[in-house]
Amino acid sequence: MKKLYIETYGCQMNVSDSEVIFAILGKKGYVRTEDMGEADVILANTCSIRDNAEQRIWGRVDQFYQQKKSRPGVVVGIVGCMAERLKDALLDTRKVDLVAGPDAYRKLPALLDALSDGHPQMDVQLSREETYGDISPVRLDKNGVSAFISIMRGCNNVCSYCVVPYTRGVERSRDYRTIVREACECLSDGYKEVTLLGQNVDSYRFGDVDFAGLLAMVAEVSPTLRVRFSTSHPKDISDAVIETMARYPNICRHIHLPVQSGNDRILEKMRRRYTRAWYMERVAKIREVMPDCGLSTDAIVGFCSETEEEFRDTLSLFREAAYDSAFMFAYSERPGTLAAREYPDDVPQEEKTRRLEELIALQNTLSLESNRADVGKTFEVLVEGPSKRNPEQLCGRAGNNKMCVWTDSVHKPGDYVHVSVQDCTQATLLCTLSE
Ligand code: 5AD
Ligand code: SF4
Repeated sequence: MKKLYIETYGCQMNVSDSEVIFAILGKKGYVRTEDMGEADVILANTCSIRDNAEQRIWGRVDQFYQQKKSRPGVVVGIVGCMAERLKDALLDTRKVDLVAGPDAYRKLPALLDALSDGHPQMDVQLSREETYGDISPVRLDKNGVSAFISIMRGCNNVCSYCVVPYTRGVERSRDYRTIVREACECLSDGYKEVTLLGQNVDSYRFGDVDFAGLLAMVAEVSPTLRVRFSTSHPKDISDAVIETMARYPNICRHIHLPVQSGNDRILEKMRRRYTRAWYMERVAKIREVMPDCGLSTDAIVGFCSETEEEFRDTLSLFREAAYDSAFMFAYSERPGTLAAREYPDDVPQEEKTRRLEELIALQNTLSLESNRADVGKTFEVLVEGPSKRNPEQLCGRAGNNKMCVWTDSVHKPGDYVHVSVQDCTQATLLCTLSE
């Protein structure tokens, strides 16, 4: 039996893909190890979204190579987005034996077998059909509470800054029957929450079933199974999706709705295909139908030619949308994208950093305000495990995705408890058990 170690970088989709890889190689006799030092095969499931993501992985490649040198026979493979983007350049380093793109995971057993004749192996073919729909992933979540279910792959949106369409290929939706079956398996394995994953879940379509229809099917698997999803695209999130969320108490009231910029000229240049007004109308609709819905976003500062005034539009939009939380980034040019080909990356690095710091500082105050507004409220929380800071406390998320902590020696991961919010920090609701 060979031991397989996978290090996963990037988004939740990559975590889900690593679970698929464990399933595929598990069938061929590979067993999982969490200790790189005893692994026969070391894989890095990689991310290309920003240059610093890739730089971090390059650093790790050197460390994997040390393993190869000290333990001859160890196989090092790079899989995922960086494999797809860099292809031969990874093999040229001579530190890597195997390169496999996101649609080549079924070939991993054959590629690993072929390595025995001493030649490095690569498969970076993208597919129009592959969804790994028939594969039951080997779950990596340690407490067995929350599982990812990937519902589609790839992306057809070609935002001008984004490498994902190039690394993950065209969009394809997975058969809803296999998704519902996987949700049922999660339930019978004791999971209490599933998160449906796609680059743009709102454009899910398989036959007659759209995302609203899929959400309803998964919500009906069991009222005790919580349903989350990510990521929504502002141009595609439909009234039907918002209304379906409102109809099922077990669909968590949280939407991650990346805005990227608050300025129409920049949005156009990013090819986001919506305006600020359109975005704010979607937010208004969400708040009208579900006043208690959590809202989070992604934003990029310092995109090509962004002026100070245009950046200030992002600040003002953040205030207007009053996000509960946000992921914020400085623009990082990605080779091959439309922006890299057509627009100079002309906002100086110091300026990007300054804008990023200003946006983060604003979001910190917005997060604190949003949390303060929840003091006095009661939430149903799914227990995830002991709190990191204090072993006498448990932590878990409310439906709106806010992290709660409370003192508790009775409950265990997977229980639903009611907590009442006494106080808060910018990141956490400090609660007591209610009941
Ligand atoms: N530079 C900086 N941030 C980026 N993102 C995507 N591409 C880039 C890039 N080239 C951000 C977007 C996206 C999130 C996953 O990463 O905000 O929503
Ligand atoms: Fe990174 Fe995007 Fe690939 Fe996810 S899809 S691993 S975020 S480049």
